[in-house]
Amino acid sequence: MHENEKKQIEQKLKSVLADSPAQYIELTEAMRYSLLSGGKRIRPILLLRFFALCGGKGDGALSFAAAIEMIHTYSLIHDDLPSMDNDDMRRGRPSCHKAFGEATALLAGDALLTMAFAIAAETEGIPAERVTKAIAVLSECAGTHGMVAGQVMDLRFEHETPTQEALTVMVKKKTGCLLEAAAAIGCILAGAGEKTVALAREYAAFVGLAFQMIDDVLDQTADEALLGKPVGSDQKNGKTTFVTLLGLEETRKRAAEYTKKALAVLEEIGGDTADIKALTQELLIREY
Ligand code: IPE
Ligand code: IPE
Ligand code: MG
Ligand code: MG
Ligand code: MG
Repeated sequence: MHENEKKQIEQKLKSVLADSPAQYIELTEAMRYSLLSGGKRIRPILLLRFFALCGGKGDGALSFAAAIEMIHTYSLIHDDLPSMDNDDMRRGRPSCHKAFGEATALLAGDALLTMAFAIAAETEGIPAERVTKAIAVLSECAGTHGMVAGQVMDLRFEHETPTQEALTVMVKKKTGCLLEAAAAIGCILAGAGEKTVALAREYAAFVGLAFQMIDDVLDQTADEALLGKPVGSDQKNGKTTFVTLLGLEETRKRAAEYTKKALAVLEEIGGDTADIKALTQELLIREY
């Protein structure tokens, strides 16, 4: 199941960047370089699994799966820029700005974000009102009061030491929101009711907290070659993370607690949740 999903996602991502006009080849090359460089594809996988859980049939959700990965990839390109985390490696190779220069990396991010909405709008085989609703959720979660807000707060916490509560709000936004979008959109496209969509978002918010906690732990403890991005980035930037506030052991413990909470919400949704449950557990013990 897992391998097949990944193959479908990779194929779709390749197909959206098939054109490369010579006049601005560096733009599409940079987009392709970052988008097709691996990555765990957690968000599109989650989206497809919630779509299946809610009875969705066919490959209508694949456009949104690609769209959310494009938005995630843009966020990583910008996250690595010198004005943000200033990191030279991503997904096991030089970051986009190291390979193509800052201006092209910035614009490749802009173009991925913009194109994502066109790809989502091209969804076929799903009622238009569901597509419209899903596009609104994607914009809400990725934008001003979602992921982008989280990134702004994250940068502020390089100079300001937040309380645990403030750090939690930041992480829910910077990392939780896109995962929420993935889970919610899967449900919406399959025609699930509001209660299910709300539970899916609640589940994903807990997963987001656990996911970022492990990301913060790995930032200190991982094998850099396996992680594919610099170890010690947070410390270099003087960022307050859960690890700074709580220490490694307590952060791991909290990540396990949030994973448990996520699984409890998943139980409430019901149905055949085995695949989503397995993914949730894998994310807690991941090494990259
Ligand atoms: C990294 O996300 C950024 C965070 C939100 C912590 P992933 O760990 O999903 O990165 P890729 O897509 O697998 O490279
Ligand atoms: C980034 O968090 C979250 C995004 C929205 C991109 P990090 O800055 O910790 O992600 P990594 O560790 O660089 O992947
Ligand atoms: Mg960052
Ligand atoms: Mg970063
Ligand atoms: Mg990190």
